Amino acid sequence: MKIYVDSADISEIEAAQALGLCDGVTTNPTLIAKTGKSMTQAIKDICAIVEGPVHAEVLSLDKEGIIKEGMELAKVSDSIVVKIPMCHDGLKAVRHFYDEGIPTNVTLIFSASQAILAAKAGASNVCPFVGRLDDISVAGSDLIEDIVTIFDNYPEIETQIIVASVRSPMHVVDSALLGADIFTIPGKVLTQMEKHPLTDIGIAKFLEDAKKFT
Ligand code: E4P
Repeated sequence: MKIYVDSADISEIEAAQALGLCDGVTTNPTLIAKTGKSMTQAIKDICAIVEGPVHAEVLSLDKEGIIKEGMELAKVSDSIVVKIPMCHDGLKAVRHFYDEGIPTNVTLIFSASQAILAAKAGASNVCPFVGRLDDISVAGSDLIEDIVTIFDNYPEIETQIIVASVRSPMHVVDSALLGADIFTIPGKVLTQMEKHPLTDIGIAKFLEDAKKFT
């Protein structure tokens, strides 16, 4: 199991690193915009502190544009994984990067059929969005189950499943029970995963009782 930090915020990434919870980082344009930095600067800053893969998303939707942007991003660091929105030309670009030996992540996956196409195109990773499916009353975990089952049925598929759009600890637990490879988790949810009210009550009771020591 690998845990990535779903953030472009350096302090959030460092907080996860301090707990050994940063096997990589995923970003997207929304997360980069929150930093107030340019895409290149934000990605450089992340690559400077992270040892694992750093997923950086292209904005273009045509094959040539995706390839141009992806190649520029790949120059920033050997850690870069080019993140490509699921679309027709995106799949063509994935094949190009596969031939060049540059890893890719096909993002905005909302169906198993999209995941199949991305895997067959040569994507290193697919990013199914569980939270955004739950938002529209579709069970995100059903999608994870379908993709895990399909990829397991075909051992030649090496594409890894990154569970994305994680909004709660249960998104992680449900997907872990299904055997997803990687979870990309915002700092807030990592903190929520630490907590249990009975743990807090138990600590308070032990500390209270420790006052009775002779
Ligand atoms: C990660 O790669 C995705 O871009 C991210 O998890 C999306 O999360 P959201 O649906 O909470 O914006």
